[in-house]
Amino acid sequence: MPVKTVKGTRDIFYPDIEKWKFFEEKAREILKTYNFKEIITPIFEYTEVFARGIGEDTDIVHKEMYTFKDRKGRSITLRPENTASVVRAYLEHKMYAEGGIKRLFYIGPMFRYERPQKGRYRQFFQLGVEVFGSKNPFIDAETIELVINILEKVGLKGLSVNINSLGCEKCRPVYRENLQKFLKGIKEKLCEDCKRRIDTNPLRVLDCKVPSCKEALKDAPNIQQSLCEDCKEHQAKVFHYLETMGVKYEVEPNLVRGLDYYTRTVFEVVSDNLGSQNAILGGGRYDNLVKEFGGPDTPAFGWALGIDRLVLLLEDKNFDFANKTIYIVPAGNSIDYCFQTAKILRENGLASEVMADSKSLKKALNSVNKQRGRFVLIAGESEREKGIVIFKDMENKTQREIKLENIAKELKDEIDK
Ligand code: HAM
Repeated sequence: MPVKTVKGTRDIFYPDIEKWKFFEEKAREILKTYNFKEIITPIFEYTEVFARGIGEDTDIVHKEMYTFKDRKGRSITLRPENTASVVRAYLEHKMYAEGGIKRLFYIGPMFRYERPQKGRYRQFFQLGVEVFGSKNPFIDAETIELVINILEKVGLKGLSVNINSLGCEKCRPVYRENLQKFLKGIKEKLCEDCKRRIDTNPLRVLDCKVPSCKEALKDAPNIQQSLCEDCKEHQAKVFHYLETMGVKYEVEPNLVRGLDYYTRTVFEVVSDNLGSQNAILGGGRYDNLVKEFGGPDTPAFGWALGIDRLVLLLEDKNFDFANKTIYIVPAGNSIDYCFQTAKILRENGLASEVMADSKSLKKALNSVNKQRGRFVLIAGESEREKGIVIFKDMENKTQREIKLENIAKELKDEIDK
């Protein structure tokens, strides 16, 4: 095998890593203000956790999991998502016993054997939240508002919230049957996957991306019109709260999501700027999953956001710090003086680099240019004698002397200009 990354995986480094950390820090700050606590679960679990949690008939469980036997022959799976793991942890540690509403968040890698393309990888990262213990539609709205708040604070625009309800155990079976009847009538027009889904997972047919399926589904029954009174009331309240919170949304009756655990509210946030992999995040309510795992009846709501996709949307120009770094060039035997200068800058929170290997001023300036740097200090032997450095702004092509004791203040002013 060649020595390179496995198909569908990537190395992440500067400047993307700066965007990544910026996003994570902002998100953590905001999550704290909504009283969310972090949870770290293992990257692999017994396969059963996902097979039961996500649903045997979903694409994820059916064909996208990295599953292997460990040395004792137990079936292990790299997590394709984290909701099932968090539910497992919630039960294993009896978090429900504390009472009240439990708000958890996680950040980490997930693994799905999908066809790689821009924004779709086999190892990708999610930031996700799970809220346990409330049926209240306010929780749906507030948890959606939370992520919109995060996205706005990191400066994203051109986003839409699509929302739908998948009903409950009362109204969904009726809809499912109607839909199945309709699909059987148009079976010949559907792709092979959808033909199979008619029996196994008919709702999934609704969000098939194949154009001929889309066309054939134009007159499919609308789930919005099949909701029972309780589900309708729940949804109306979610909409009311979203409106009072200033969150804009579109009702999208064909939004069904790829995991089986949802009940009532489901939603996705999509971006105009991502091409075909346009969902930055998705989630919804899953009131039965904790019970299905053998726990007490505990309603829940959550979402997960694809960090890889989000990073694609953050603009490069805000994350290239080369133009804020101060490059310090020695002249003669003055590396110690350069270090003394760098130390003052670093103590004041400014980034600097001593160009210890520079052979000449010209070569040093060339190298700074190549790295897209802007600020240079020349700290040579003669500057040391005078207790100064020479400051060069490569962009404005200006140069002046600065007293060593003033460098921190003057360079801060230059960077902030
Ligand atoms: P999901 O829609 O499968 O939901 O994934 C959530 C987000 O993860 C997607 O919107 C996308 O941004 C990102 N994502 C998914 N697959 C890939 C991939 N192959 N490459 C890059 N990014 C990807 C869930 O995972 C649910 N656990 C969400 C949830 C939490 N529902 C309730 N609580």
